Amino acid sequence: MGTYAVTGAASGMGRASAERLRRDGHTVVGVDLRDVEVIADLSTPTGRAAAATEVLERAGGRLDGAVCAAGLGGIPGRDQVVQQVNFFGVVELLEAWRPTLAAAGNSKVVVFGSNSVTLTPMVPERAVRALLDRDAGRALRVVGRFGKRSAPFAYASSKLAVTRWARRAAISPEWAGAGIRVNVLAPGIIATPLLEEQMARGEKEAVEGLPVPIGGRGKPADVGEWVAFMLSPAADFLCGSVIFLDGGSDAYFRTDDW
Ligand code: NAI
Repeated sequence: MGTYAVTGAASGMGRASAERLRRDGHTVVGVDLRDVEVIADLSTPTGRAAAATEVLERAGGRLDGAVCAAGLGGIPGRDQVVQQVNFFGVVELLEAWRPTLAAAGNSKVVVFGSNSVTLTPMVPERAVRALLDRDAGRALRVVGRFGKRSAPFAYASSKLAVTRWARRAAISPEWAGAGIRVNVLAPGIIATPLLEEQMARGEKEAVEGLPVPIGGRGKPADVGEWVAFMLSPAADFLCGSVIFLDGGSDAYFRTDDW
Protein backbone atom coordinates (compact mmCIF):
# COMPACT_ATOMS: atom_id res chain seq x y z
CA MET A 1 0.00 0.00 0.00
CA GLY A 2 1.21 3.52 -0.76
CA THR A 3 1.20 6.95 0.79
CA TYR A 4 -0.32 9.79 -1.23
CA ALA A 5 -0.67 13.53 -0.81
CA VAL A 6 -4.00 14.90 -2.08
CA THR A 7 -4.62 18.65 -2.23
CA GLY A 8 -8.19 19.89 -2.32
CA ALA A 9 -9.13 16.78 -0.35
CA ALA A 10 -12.03 18.44 1.51
CA SER A 11 -14.38 18.70 -1.45
CA GLY A 12 -15.36 17.57 -4.92
CA MET A 13 -12.89 15.59 -6.99
CA GLY A 14 -10.00 15.84 -4.51
CA ARG A 15 -12.20 14.43 -1.80
CA ALA A 16 -13.49 11.66 -4.06
CA SER A 17 -9.91 10.80 -5.00
CA ALA A 18 -8.82 10.65 -1.36
CA GLU A 19 -11.81 8.45 -0.44
CA ARG A 20 -11.12 6.11 -3.34
CA LEU A 21 -7.44 5.73 -2.39
CA ARG A 22 -8.32 5.09 1.27
CA ARG A 23 -10.83 2.43 0.25
CA ASP A 24 -7.96 0.64 -1.48
CA GLY A 25 -6.02 0.73 1.80
CA HIS A 26 -3.60 3.53 0.93
CA THR A 27 -2.58 6.24 3.38
CA VAL A 28 -3.71 9.70 2.31
CA VAL A 29 -2.47 13.01 3.64
CA GLY A 30 -5.04 15.59 2.61
CA VAL A 31 -4.32 19.31 2.20
CA ASP A 32 -7.07 21.91 2.19
CA LEU A 33 -8.44 24.95 3.97
CA ARG A 34 -10.48 22.74 6.34
CA ASP A 35 -11.50 19.21 7.36
CA VAL A 36 -8.26 17.41 6.40
CA GLU A 37 -4.93 16.43 7.92
CA VAL A 38 -2.97 19.46 6.73
CA ILE A 39 -4.83 22.75 6.95
CA ALA A 40 -3.10 25.27 4.71
CA ASP A 41 -3.83 28.18 2.44
CA LEU A 42 -2.25 27.42 -0.93
CA SER A 43 -2.83 30.95 -2.16
CA THR A 44 0.23 32.26 -0.28
CA PRO A 45 3.92 31.31 -0.49
CA THR A 46 4.08 30.73 3.28
CA GLY A 47 0.96 28.56 3.23
CA ARG A 48 2.41 26.48 0.41
CA ALA A 49 5.78 26.08 2.11
CA ALA A 50 4.12 25.05 5.38
CA ALA A 51 1.84 22.59 3.57
CA ALA A 52 4.75 21.01 1.71
CA THR A 53 6.71 20.47 4.92
CA GLU A 54 3.82 19.22 7.03
CA VAL A 55 2.76 16.70 4.38
CA LEU A 56 6.23 15.19 4.35
CA GLU A 57 6.26 14.98 8.15
CA ARG A 58 2.85 13.32 8.29
CA ALA A 59 3.76 10.99 5.43
CA GLY A 60 6.77 9.80 7.41
CA GLY A 61 9.13 10.93 4.67
CA ARG A 62 7.67 8.63 1.98
CA LEU A 63 5.40 9.66 -0.90
CA ASP A 64 4.33 7.21 -3.61
CA GLY A 65 2.34 9.86 -5.38
CA ALA A 66 0.52 13.16 -5.29
CA VAL A 67 -2.83 14.41 -6.54
CA CYS A 68 -3.09 18.16 -7.02
CA ALA A 69 -6.80 18.90 -7.08
CA ALA A 70 -7.02 22.10 -5.02
CA GLY A 71 -8.27 24.84 -7.27
CA LEU A 72 -10.74 27.63 -7.80
CA GLY A 73 -13.02 28.50 -10.69
CA GLY A 74 -12.86 31.82 -12.48
CA ILE A 75 -15.09 34.29 -10.71
CA PRO A 76 -14.86 38.10 -11.05
CA GLY A 77 -12.62 39.71 -8.43
CA ARG A 78 -10.39 36.78 -7.59
CA ASP A 79 -7.94 36.50 -10.49
CA GLN A 80 -4.94 36.68 -8.18
CA VAL A 81 -6.10 33.87 -5.89
CA VAL A 82 -7.01 31.73 -8.91
CA GLN A 83 -3.50 32.11 -10.34
CA GLN A 84 -1.87 31.53 -6.97
CA VAL A 85 -3.77 28.34 -6.10
CA ASN A 86 -4.22 26.83 -9.56
CA PHE A 87 -0.63 27.36 -10.70
CA PHE A 88 1.71 28.06 -7.77
CA GLY A 89 -0.31 25.80 -5.46
CA VAL A 90 0.60 22.91 -7.73
CA VAL A 91 4.14 23.57 -8.87
CA GLU A 92 5.63 24.74 -5.57
CA LEU A 93 4.28 21.74 -3.68
CA LEU A 94 5.36 19.25 -6.32
CA GLU A 95 8.83 20.77 -6.51
CA ALA A 96 9.14 20.49 -2.73
CA TRP A 97 8.01 16.86 -2.85
CA ARG A 98 10.07 15.86 -5.89
CA PRO A 99 13.06 14.38 -4.01
CA THR A 100 10.72 12.31 -1.83
CA LEU A 101 8.72 11.13 -4.86
CA ALA A 102 11.98 10.21 -6.59
CA ALA A 103 13.19 8.27 -3.55
CA ALA A 104 10.00 6.16 -3.56
CA GLY A 105 10.76 4.94 -7.11
CA ASN A 106 8.02 4.52 -9.72
CA SER A 107 5.90 7.25 -8.15
CA LYS A 108 3.04 9.05 -9.88
CA VAL A 109 1.55 12.52 -9.94
CA VAL A 110 -1.89 13.59 -11.15
CA VAL A 111 -2.31 17.32 -11.81
CA PHE A 112 -5.82 18.67 -12.24
CA GLY A 113 -5.99 20.79 -15.38
CA SER A 114 -9.21 21.64 -17.18
CA ASN A 115 -10.75 21.34 -20.62
CA SER A 116 -11.01 25.16 -20.49
CA VAL A 117 -7.44 25.19 -21.82
CA THR A 118 -8.76 24.25 -25.24
CA LEU A 119 -12.34 25.53 -24.93
CA THR A 120 -11.64 29.11 -23.83
CA PRO A 121 -11.03 31.26 -26.91
CA MET A 122 -7.82 33.32 -26.95
CA VAL A 123 -6.24 32.25 -23.68
CA PRO A 124 -3.62 35.01 -23.18
CA GLU A 125 -0.32 33.43 -24.05
CA ARG A 126 1.57 36.21 -22.26
CA ALA A 127 -0.15 35.36 -18.98
CA VAL A 128 0.74 31.70 -19.44
CA ARG A 129 4.37 32.61 -20.10
CA ALA A 130 4.44 34.94 -17.08
CA LEU A 131 3.22 32.15 -14.82
CA LEU A 132 5.78 29.73 -16.23
CA ASP A 133 8.40 32.43 -15.55
CA ARG A 134 7.03 32.58 -11.95
CA ASP A 135 6.18 36.25 -12.44
CA ALA A 136 2.84 36.49 -10.63
CA GLY A 137 2.63 40.28 -10.93
CA ARG A 138 3.01 40.22 -14.72
CA ALA A 139 0.50 37.37 -15.05
CA LEU A 140 -2.04 39.37 -13.08
CA ARG A 141 -1.44 42.53 -15.11
CA VAL A 142 -1.92 40.66 -18.38
CA VAL A 143 -5.32 39.21 -17.43
CA GLY A 144 -6.24 42.56 -15.82
CA ARG A 145 -6.30 44.06 -19.31
CA PHE A 146 -9.54 42.16 -19.93
CA GLY A 147 -11.17 44.36 -17.26
CA LYS A 148 -14.47 43.05 -15.93
CA ARG A 149 -14.26 40.06 -18.27
CA SER A 150 -10.92 38.83 -16.95
CA ALA A 151 -12.11 35.88 -14.80
CA PRO A 152 -12.31 33.15 -17.50
CA PHE A 153 -8.92 34.26 -18.87
CA ALA A 154 -7.31 34.18 -15.42
CA TYR A 155 -8.70 30.69 -14.92
CA ALA A 156 -7.84 29.26 -18.34
CA SER A 157 -4.33 30.77 -18.32
CA SER A 158 -3.65 29.29 -14.86
CA LYS A 159 -4.76 25.86 -16.07
CA LEU A 160 -2.86 26.10 -19.37
CA ALA A 161 0.30 27.14 -17.50
CA VAL A 162 0.04 24.30 -15.02
CA THR A 163 -0.62 21.84 -17.85
CA ARG A 164 2.42 23.05 -19.74
CA TRP A 165 4.54 22.95 -16.58
CA ALA A 166 3.41 19.37 -15.96
CA ARG A 167 4.24 18.31 -19.54
CA ARG A 168 7.67 19.89 -19.35
CA ALA A 169 8.38 18.28 -15.99
CA ALA A 170 6.98 14.94 -17.14
CA ILE A 171 9.68 14.44 -19.77
CA SER A 172 12.62 15.93 -17.87
CA PRO A 173 15.55 14.11 -16.27
CA GLU A 174 14.45 15.38 -12.84
CA TRP A 175 11.01 13.78 -13.11
CA ALA A 176 10.81 11.09 -15.81
CA GLY A 177 14.51 10.41 -15.28
CA ALA A 178 13.84 9.85 -11.59
CA GLY A 179 10.97 7.45 -12.30
CA ILE A 180 8.20 9.93 -11.47
CA ARG A 181 5.21 9.81 -13.85
CA VAL A 182 3.51 13.18 -14.19
CA ASN A 183 0.15 13.36 -15.98
CA VAL A 184 -2.74 15.78 -16.24
CA LEU A 185 -6.43 15.07 -15.82
CA ALA A 186 -8.49 17.69 -17.64
CA PRO A 187 -12.10 17.50 -16.46
CA GLY A 188 -15.03 19.13 -18.17
CA ILE A 189 -18.31 19.83 -16.39
CA ILE A 190 -18.19 17.83 -13.17
CA ALA A 191 -20.94 18.19 -10.55
CA THR A 192 -19.00 19.63 -7.60
CA PRO A 193 -19.35 22.62 -5.24
CA LEU A 194 -17.00 24.53 -7.57
CA LEU A 195 -19.45 24.10 -10.44
CA GLU A 196 -22.38 25.10 -8.24
CA GLU A 197 -20.50 28.26 -7.24
CA GLN A 198 -19.76 29.09 -10.88
CA MET A 199 -23.41 28.69 -11.79
CA ALA A 200 -24.62 30.73 -8.82
CA ARG A 201 -22.22 33.54 -9.68
CA GLY A 202 -23.09 34.34 -13.27
CA GLU A 203 -21.82 31.36 -15.30
CA LYS A 204 -25.09 29.40 -15.50
CA GLU A 205 -25.70 30.16 -19.17
CA ALA A 206 -22.11 29.38 -20.15
CA VAL A 207 -22.20 26.04 -18.32
CA GLU A 208 -25.60 25.03 -19.64
CA GLY A 209 -24.74 26.17 -23.17
CA LEU A 210 -21.52 24.16 -23.42
CA PRO A 211 -21.85 21.27 -25.87
CA VAL A 212 -21.41 17.92 -24.08
CA PRO A 213 -21.92 15.30 -26.82
CA ILE A 214 -22.43 12.40 -24.42
CA GLY A 215 -24.78 14.50 -22.28
CA GLY A 216 -25.05 15.17 -18.57
CA ARG A 217 -22.31 15.98 -16.08
CA GLY A 218 -19.38 14.05 -14.73
CA LYS A 219 -19.49 12.58 -11.23
CA PRO A 220 -16.67 13.21 -8.72
CA ALA A 221 -16.64 9.53 -7.72
CA ASP A 222 -15.93 8.53 -11.33
CA VAL A 223 -13.09 11.04 -11.45
CA GLY A 224 -11.73 9.41 -8.29
CA GLU A 225 -11.65 6.10 -10.19
CA TRP A 226 -9.57 7.72 -12.93
CA VAL A 227 -7.17 9.17 -10.40
CA ALA A 228 -6.73 5.79 -8.71
CA PHE A 229 -6.08 4.24 -12.12
CA MET A 230 -3.53 6.93 -13.03
CA LEU A 231 -1.69 6.16 -9.77
CA SER A 232 -1.81 2.41 -10.26
CA PRO A 233 0.81 0.12 -11.84
CA ALA A 234 -1.40 -0.04 -14.95
CA ALA A 235 -0.33 3.57 -15.60
CA ASP A 236 3.40 2.85 -15.50
CA PHE A 237 3.73 3.82 -19.19
CA LEU A 238 1.61 6.98 -18.93
CA CYS A 239 3.90 10.03 -18.99
CA GLY A 240 3.04 13.63 -19.83
CA SER A 241 -0.46 12.81 -21.08
CA VAL A 242 -3.42 15.15 -20.80
CA ILE A 243 -6.58 13.12 -20.32
CA PHE A 244 -9.80 14.91 -21.17
CA LEU A 245 -12.68 13.65 -19.05
CA ASP A 246 -15.36 15.93 -20.39
CA GLY A 247 -18.16 14.07 -22.14
CA GLY A 248 -16.74 14.99 -25.54
CA SER A 249 -16.61 18.83 -25.28
CA ASP A 250 -12.96 19.03 -26.32
CA ALA A 251 -13.56 16.60 -29.19
CA TYR A 252 -16.58 18.67 -30.25
CA PHE A 253 -14.55 21.86 -30.63
CA ARG A 254 -11.28 20.34 -31.85
CA THR A 255 -12.48 17.34 -33.79
CA ASP A 256 -9.75 17.41 -36.43
CA ASP A 257 -6.95 19.00 -34.40
CA TRP A 258 -4.89 15.83 -34.56
P1 NAI B 1 -14.15 21.91 -5.22
O1 NAI B 1 -14.41 23.36 -4.97
O2 NAI B 1 -15.22 20.95 -4.91
O3 NAI B 1 -12.80 21.45 -4.49
C1 NAI B 1 -11.64 22.23 -4.57
C2 NAI B 1 -10.95 22.23 -3.23
O4 NAI B 1 -9.81 23.10 -3.31
C3 NAI B 1 -11.83 22.76 -2.08
O5 NAI B 1 -11.92 21.82 -1.02
C4 NAI B 1 -11.15 24.03 -1.66
O6 NAI B 1 -11.26 24.32 -0.28
C5 NAI B 1 -9.71 23.76 -2.08
N1 NAI B 1 -9.01 25.03 -2.15
C6 NAI B 1 -9.39 26.15 -2.80
N2 NAI B 1 -8.59 27.17 -2.50
C7 NAI B 1 -7.66 26.69 -1.65
C8 NAI B 1 -6.56 27.27 -0.97
N3 NAI B 1 -6.29 28.58 -1.07
N4 NAI B 1 -5.81 26.49 -0.17
C9 NAI B 1 -6.09 25.17 -0.01
N5 NAI B 1 -7.13 24.56 -0.64
C10 NAI B 1 -7.91 25.32 -1.43
O7 NAI B 1 -13.73 21.83 -6.75
P2 NAI B 1 -13.63 20.62 -7.80
O8 NAI B 1 -14.65 20.89 -8.83
O9 NAI B 1 -13.55 19.32 -7.14
O10 NAI B 1 -12.24 20.98 -8.48
C11 NAI B 1 -11.07 20.18 -8.38
C12 NAI B 1 -10.11 20.63 -9.46
O11 NAI B 1 -10.68 20.37 -10.73
C13 NAI B 1 -9.80 22.12 -9.42
O12 NAI B 1 -8.44 22.32 -9.70
C14 NAI B 1 -10.66 22.68 -10.54
O13 NAI B 1 -10.13 23.86 -11.09
C15 NAI B 1 -10.65 21.55 -11.53
N6 NAI B 1 -11.76 21.53 -12.48
C16 NAI B 1 -13.07 21.45 -12.05
C17 NAI B 1 -14.10 21.37 -12.97
C18 NAI B 1 -15.54 21.21 -12.59
O14 NAI B 1 -16.42 21.25 -13.46
N7 NAI B 1 -15.88 20.99 -11.34
C19 NAI B 1 -13.82 21.44 -14.42
C20 NAI B 1 -12.42 21.51 -14.75
C21 NAI B 1 -11.44 21.55 -13.80
